[in-house]
Amino acid sequence: MLRTLRSVLRFRPLEVRAADRRLRAAANVADYRNLARRRLPRGVFDYVDGGAEDELSLRRNTAAFQRLEFRPRVLCDVSAVDTSTTLLGRRLPVPIVLAPTGFTRIVTPGGELDVARAAARAGLPYTLSTMATRSIEQVAAVSDGPKWFQVYVWRDRGLAKDMLARAAAAGYEAIVLTVDTAVLGRRERDVRHGFTLPPKVGLGTLLDGALHPGWTWNFVRSEPITFANVAGTAGMAGIDGSSAVTLADYINGQFDPSLSWRDLDWFRGQWDRHIVLKGVQTVEDARIAADSAVGAIALSNHGGRQLDGAPPPLELVAEVAAAVGDRAEIICDGGVRRGSDVVKAIALGARACMIGRAYLYGLAVAGEPGVDSVLEMLAADMRRTMSLTGCQSVADLDPRLVRWRPAGP
Ligand code: FNR
Repeated sequence: MLRTLRSVLRFRPLEVRAADRRLRAAANVADYRNLARRRLPRGVFDYVDGGAEDELSLRRNTAAFQRLEFRPRVLCDVSAVDTSTTLLGRRLPVPIVLAPTGFTRIVTPGGELDVARAAARAGLPYTLSTMATRSIEQVAAVSDGPKWFQVYVWRDRGLAKDMLARAAAAGYEAIVLTVDTAVLGRRERDVRHGFTLPPKVGLGTLLDGALHPGWTWNFVRSEPITFANVAGTAGMAGIDGSSAVTLADYINGQFDPSLSWRDLDWFRGQWDRHIVLKGVQTVEDARIAADSAVGAIALSNHGGRQLDGAPPPLELVAEVAAAVGDRAEIICDGGVRRGSDVVKAIALGARACMIGRAYLYGLAVAGEPGVDSVLEMLAADMRRTMSLTGCQSVADLDPRLVRWRPAGP
């Protein structure tokens, strides 16, 4: 008996660093989400994880991927699987772009810099948000990988012009115009918590902080958080993140709700590199976008954080791909939690997927190595899925590979 027991007993080497132990405990993005829920104060986790109103679009974004199933082919010689593709003229090892997420340093002090470094290491574009807590230049200083800059349009057009000039000077390859945020969606988890940026410290926050000492210790030791792209800009005192405001007050006060298709020309006058239009949610608008000669259309409902009841991007991909043809590349943004999700979106006609929460969960759990780990998992998933479906390269991913499940689980 002892001999049998000895032959099967294997102890994993003890991980000394807590972050390494957490990394080892995660087998997928859902595990990272669970670990992030434990590690972050409730208000911070809900800011990342939550969606608008009843969170219908948030749930449907992920559910749509589950409704699509594979039609795997066998005996296809998958000894050499190639997951690479091109997006806006650039070769990428996998068809993934890191989506812009505002206020990333609320998750962990490394924030945008950690994410940008991990993206560069993986050879994937990182999109810096207008609402970032590190500046255009700070991110460029740590990342020689492909960088995109996401633009919300300020009522003060001079500020937008200035940011575009800074992004061009710092070597950003594309701007991402987010067009689904005429006003901010009602994120009711944030409303309930009275969530402000930066967080206001009341009794509830103190208690929440005490229950999450790892996050709190990092937060109080790091420099104060500001909206780094506007901090110090003339006329921006009080709205640069140095005083606590709700995101809704901030956005509704500062961003221009009169933005229309005509404004695309203004952007083209200021920016001569690629333009990505993020937040397109109908075939009609995708057609107009393609006619307006944008480089890529990101089908997106902002991860279910804006209009609740907006369609899941995956459900739009095939129809938009048919309408747009090769006039613009299509990016599917929202609900991606596995590499197999990326394979599904590409099969329907997307060129790439954007991911938001997936990398934020990794960041919350283990900082930069957490983001590395999520990106590696998605790439490995994608390679495995392609092997199991009989696809040697991204060119093999076409609509015949998938079908919508009629009903059932
Ligand atoms: C976002 N998103 C976002 N989009 C944008 O254009 N500008 C921004 O500043 C932000 N900020 C932001 C913060 C947080 C915490 C999240 C989770 C998301 C939306 C983001 O770019 C992307 O569209 C979604 O995250 C995609 O959905 P998944 O991948 O999170 O399901």
